Amino acid sequence: MTESTLQSTDRYSHLAALAHIPELENQATPFIAVDLTAMQRNIKRMADYFAARPAMVRPHVKHHKCSRIARMQVEAGANGVTCSTTDEVVAMVRGGVDDVLLANVVADPPRLKALASAAADARVTVALDSEQAARLLSESANAAGVDIGFVVDTDIGMGRNGVASVAAGVELAGLASGLPGLSFRGVMGYEGHIMSIPDRTARREAVEKAFIPVATLVDALRERGFESAIVTGGSAATYDVTGNLPFMTDIQCGTYVLMDATYTELLDDFEPAAAVIATVCTAGRGRNIVVNVGSKRMATDWGNPRLAHPHAPHVSTSEEHNQFACPAEEVPSVGDRVAVVPGHACSTMAMYSCAFGVRDGVVEEVLQFDGRDPLS
Ligand SMILES: Cc1ncc(COP(=O)(O)O)c(C=O)c1O
Repeated sequence: MTESTLQSTDRYSHLAALAHIPELENQATPFIAVDLTAMQRNIKRMADYFAARPAMVRPHVKHHKCSRIARMQVEAGANGVTCSTTDEVVAMVRGGVDDVLLANVVADPPRLKALASAAADARVTVALDSEQAARLLSESANAAGVDIGFVVDTDIGMGRNGVASVAAGVELAGLASGLPGLSFRGVMGYEGHIMSIPDRTARREAVEKAFIPVATLVDALRERGFESAIVTGGSAATYDVTGNLPFMTDIQCGTYVLMDATYTELLDDFEPAAAVIATVCTAGRGRNIVVNVGSKRMATDWGNPRLAHPHAPHVSTSEEHNQFACPAEEVPSVGDRVAVVPGHACSTMAMYSCAFGVRDGVVEEVLQFDGRDPLS
């Protein structure tokens, strides 16, 4: 599926124009701009890939936290969305998505209450990995008079959430399905510990091996009368591996929509589609280019940012600044605006309330990140 346009040596330069949109000249930097054409190409590429396959895309909206983008993904063929927080679930349901998977375990009563109230308006499915979490979810569903589906989350090596064995998964499915307000829907595993293996063949082999316990659990549950309607996992970086495992039904890829500098290095199937627009505050030949966005407005928890243009290697990040080495090509002047592609888009988007969606040099719409924590 890789197109020649994506193999160009500079896969970021199309974003440089986002720093010079006339309508945004008076918008204080930093802010986020999205290239809607590139974003929609990414959405279509993923949808086309799964259109001919048994598994479906259930995109992870933790990437953008935006119900408007989520609806575009559903319109393109996704069978619902995946969320990481209850705020995302509430926003997606309010925004009109009617099938939502929370691929996370919730044990906080106010959040469980919000979840149960969202379940009155949409099909909600939640990950479980312990009896305590199951009882808390059941109490909340029961109190609200709703039904909440659950998937048994299986730890396939990441060591975060998930039951530790097939036997524990079988036991949890039996127990939780007997609790009021809960219905068994299936199994989940997430390959977060191996999705960034740089070599794609090694990544493929590691993912195929890691998911064996998921297949074993699905079979063991079937033998006991539990048919898994949902078998879910996956990442943008492994969509073409996890998405082809015969027992998987719902692939939780997220970052393919806007991409970032880290994922652009991991896979060339999708194109970067968003940038933080910043202003150069210090520059000059022989010294670093310093821009007015630092770690408080652009995440560096998972890779360094890069300038869309010119290519100037990243030097350092501090709270309010990023520095890039002086490039061989043209040096920006103090006061110039530049497009900076974050190292980690998901954490960066969560620092903003919205993004400007741009097409052909014009702001077409403001994308509200309505799935953010409203108190943040
Ligand atoms: C549970 C879960 N599923 C899927 C993903 C995949 O997201 P991405 O496509 O951004 O790698 C993540 C990423 O954090 C995750 O935590």
